[in-house]
Amino acid sequence: AKRADLAGLRILVTAGGTREPIDSVRFVGNRSSGRMGFALAEQAARRGAAVTVLAANVALERTPGVVYRDVETAAQLADACGEEFPRCDVLLMSAAVADFRPVAPPDAKIKKDAGPPPAIELEATPDILLALAAQRRPGQTVVGFAAEHGDGALDFARGKLARKRLDAIVVNDISQPGIGFDTPDNEVTIVAPDRERPLPRAPKGEIAAAILDEVVRLRTTATAD
Ligand code: C5P
Repeated sequence: AKRADLAGLRILVTAGGTREPIDSVRFVGNRSSGRMGFALAEQAARRGAAVTVLAANVALERTPGVVYRDVETAAQLADACGEEFPRCDVLLMSAAVADFRPVAPPDAKIKKDAGPPPAIELEATPDILLALAAQRRPGQTVVGFAAEHGDGALDFARGKLARKRLDAIVVNDISQPGIGFDTPDNEVTIVAPDRERPLPRAPKGEIAAAILDEVVRLRTTATAD
């Protein structure tokens, strides 16, 4: 182990991407593989934390000693977060949660010969992170993630940090080739209220370690106040 600097901390990680049913066999999904979240869990466990992962449709190897709970939809993730969040010290919200879902999906397969192609009506999903950050107790650290496209990504993330009242937000520019969704590498900027830390392109394990370092720093600063 590198060092057990996270011993005694309970860390909740959400990972992967939610799937929102269109009918009993089809869904609206996204390209998140869960690699960033699973790397965070692995590194956190290695550094002594008690780690629970809420995994949304992740087909990756799991770390022994980490507790995994599988979910599919944003609604299931919201329920699981509601149960787990009160007992964690740190939330790392790296899951790509659907922003929209089909309204009232039928519990059967929509037949292709039943007429013209159906239109899929969408409704907004509740913002899980916004709700959790708003109900947190003192001593809980909440970190969001933002996948943004191109120019203005950082400004957008700064806005989210403030609006969702987060301790930090990890921003990646998904318009850049070779980083972000379903890739082994990432290149992010960790935006905290008092500083911004750009991390050069690196394997997600290294990025995860740097994010955890920032969590440690934020928690130390918070208790020093
Ligand atoms: O606003 P945006 O979706 O870009 O914010 C991203 C952050 O919010 C991520 O940490 C994501 O997990 C979280 N989120 C959420 N519930 C949603 C949408 C996003 O918790 N419905």
